[in-house]
Amino acid sequence: MAFIDEIKERAKADKKTIVLPESMDKRTFEAAEKILKEGIANLIIIGTPEEIAENSKGYDITGATIVDPFNDPNKQKYIDKFVELRSKKGVTPEMAKEQMEKDYMYYACLMCKCGDADGAVSGACHSTGNTIRPALQLLKTKPGIGSVSGFFLMEVPDCELGENGLFVFADCAVNPDVDSEKLAEIAMLSAESFEAFTGAKSKVAMLSFSSYGSAKHDRVTMVADAVKIAHEKYPELTVDGELQLDAALVPEVAKLKAPDSKVAGQANTLVFPSLEAGNIGYKLVQRLAKAGAYGPVLQGLSMPVNDLSRGCFAEDIVGVVAMTAVQAQNAGK
Ligand code: ACO
Repeated sequence: MAFIDEIKERAKADKKTIVLPESMDKRTFEAAEKILKEGIANLIIIGTPEEIAENSKGYDITGATIVDPFNDPNKQKYIDKFVELRSKKGVTPEMAKEQMEKDYMYYACLMCKCGDADGAVSGACHSTGNTIRPALQLLKTKPGIGSVSGFFLMEVPDCELGENGLFVFADCAVNPDVDSEKLAEIAMLSAESFEAFTGAKSKVAMLSFSSYGSAKHDRVTMVADAVKIAHEKYPELTVDGELQLDAALVPEVAKLKAPDSKVAGQANTLVFPSLEAGNIGYKLVQRLAKAGAYGPVLQGLSMPVNDLSRGCFAEDIVGVVAMTAVQAQNAGK
């Protein structure tokens, strides 16, 4: 079974409630129809009656809960929560109300925070920054986690590398500035994500343009230090580096460049040394190898909120909703 079909089956087995704030986009309703018909999740759609009527034409969204952000009996509860969370940042009740009415992603995150939804998906018509900023401000990281990062679950066709062609690539979406500490934490979170979504043991390669000190540079040292930190802080983690991509993936190259490594030649979880490398890397594999690229899925947030590409199809929204629902199932464990 294809990766995403398995995820949909898992989502159906214990249905979660996911909120979709982009009622201004028809793809939301096309996806909602499929999600509801297949029984992947319960849905809340945020929008005014006019937005819903205009954009849902032709789609059957029977069963979705519609919340009008201008006329919602729960609105004061969300305003109060917003102020409780952000008054130190100067947010007043008037500002909270205005922000929630202007940007429904704030509304969606507050519904999650108040326990009225299990997760949220947005980004079909909002940039990554605008999608995730409300979640960073209102939901915050899980206890003990410093930074949220974003991974792609890559499904490479006809590939024996990784876990039969399945990989996690991170960070591809969030942190423009990383250091050794952050990279080590991304390694730990990415390993958890890989295991949660595939059921297989993760083997994390910390990527660089150098393998085991073959090149000397500050950026190589940053990755090598991240490996040391990861070994100290997360002793259970199977992680190694710094490794070049070929040494990480290909057994024959690993024998030459890192012969004693427990990861080289077998890596299935790739941690990139910069956002540029991660973002370009996943798109290269997606476009040139025609790989499935599911994400960016956020890891490290206190509740599951996920982003979409603005070029996404309704089917992509269905997949990301299913992944968000599975993250919500795992949050309770
Ligand atoms: N983890 C946890 N919290 C964070 C993180 C993080 N990685 N980054 C910022 N925050 C918190 C801040 O501490 C701050 O909290 P506070 O308001 O309570 O003090 C809040 O989020 C806002 O932070 P800012 O730095 O003010 O927000 P800003 O909008 O400048 O940056 C953002 C955050 C949106 C994540 C930014 O770093 C960004 O735009 N990253 C790149 C996104 C992107 O464009 N990715 C590539 C495209 S994705 C793709 O191609 C699939």
